[in-house]
Amino acid sequence: MNALPPPQEKALAALFAAMPADLLIADGDALERYSRDWSGDHYGRPLAVARPRSSEELGLLMRHCYEQRIHVVPQGGLTGLVGAAVASYPGGELVVSLERMNKVRSVNPIDFAMVVEAGCILEEAKRHAEAADCILPITFGAQGTCRIGGNISTNAGGFNVLRYGMSRDLVLGLEVVLADGRIWNGLRTLRKDNSGYDLKQLFIGSEGTLGIVTAAALKVFPKPTQVETALVGLASVDAAMRLYARARRECSDLLTAFELILRGGIEIALRARADLRDPLAQPYPVYVLIEASAAGRVDLRALLESFLAEASDLVLDGVVASSRTQADRLWLLREMMVEAQGRGGRYLRTDVSVPISSLASFVTDTLEALSQAHPEAIAVTYGHVGDGNIHLNVVPPVEMPPSGFDALFHAAEQVIFAIVDRHGGSISAEHGIGRLKQAAFLERTDALTLELSRRIKDAFDPRHLLSEGRILASMEED
Ligand code: LAC
Ligand code: ZN
Repeated sequence: MNALPPPQEKALAALFAAMPADLLIADGDALERYSRDWSGDHYGRPLAVARPRSSEELGLLMRHCYEQRIHVVPQGGLTGLVGAAVASYPGGELVVSLERMNKVRSVNPIDFAMVVEAGCILEEAKRHAEAADCILPITFGAQGTCRIGGNISTNAGGFNVLRYGMSRDLVLGLEVVLADGRIWNGLRTLRKDNSGYDLKQLFIGSEGTLGIVTAAALKVFPKPTQVETALVGLASVDAAMRLYARARRECSDLLTAFELILRGGIEIALRARADLRDPLAQPYPVYVLIEASAAGRVDLRALLESFLAEASDLVLDGVVASSRTQADRLWLLREMMVEAQGRGGRYLRTDVSVPISSLASFVTDTLEALSQAHPEAIAVTYGHVGDGNIHLNVVPPVEMPPSGFDALFHAAEQVIFAIVDRHGGSISAEHGIGRLKQAAFLERTDALTLELSRRIKDAFDPRHLLSEGRILASMEED
């Protein structure tokens, strides 16, 4: 709390006086944990951290912040990649960490619904679903750290989107604490509800700018009794996309993942972990990690094997995992590639999408353009191609001094985004806008969309105190 402008200091002192002593942390060392996100690229020290135990307690806190005009940013597991959850407002922000609101309130296998508090770690929520013979299908690398509230506020994607949809598709209801401290209760588990505006949709993917999600009712599904995993080698991204088109027709309802990895990514994983083996007898330019799952009376293995055998014109070689352990080893290649790609340093992450039909030409055109413009840069290409979503990342050459990174990343991003635009794609398919992608987002967003977005922001956060400066540019109070 040192060196704050006097009004802010006074407001914060009043906040500490008004709230229970163990709700707030302002100690220097203790704040560190809430100052940095997983990417390591974003750092911002909060004014203080509040850790509410209930929606009511958060409601009181928010009412106070509203009255005292204290800026607030909600925080989940800090695994976001666009700088939305670390404190950043110039006058300082109070971080609201949901980590103490971490209970699973219920799992109902008849309704196929569960109710979870926002601070529950995704993996923990998944475990509870499985204990009831169900699955909560949101799945990605950060699931052991990220929290449900963050998944909803960012509309998280991941590996299983092609079968189960994005987080948005899994939300049945929400409880949200508003900027002025009122609690909006939309926590219903109804499958069908056409009564009026579907307000919960506004909070999903709004990156904490419209309200603080405190609990969610989520869809769960029958737990698959069979899961099959295969890794295949192909000649090109085009061949991978042709394989996907066939898979959609021949085993689509059972496909749960269709992940593309270019050879460079496999090599990164192999270098990172000495115990990982090259998965096929020889290297191929392109790999696809395929997963299919089923509950009920289907011979899933036979289906996947015969599908791959009939695709021998596209599939040059492949392996179908013979055990869960072997399947986990195949997924470990994907995980290690993501972890090791930046060699512990900074790199450019993108998470663009284009229509599935354009994905192969998008990748070819972009890699070509990048190698022309920046032959020294290392491109790492992988993605959820069943969703048309590709991560085309750029790692600086080993010899480049860090002072050159920003210029390279900016220039490379321009090259990638220009081709995204040409294909009518999105510059953010799953990681969101936050602060990092704001300029690129605003440049591409039409005036009417911006005007309507502003009006929504004003309606929910009239004093512009909530996650100000994320998605939309920061605005002075009206
Ligand atoms: C992935 C996340 C980082 O695909 O989007 O691994
Ligand atoms: Zn992804």
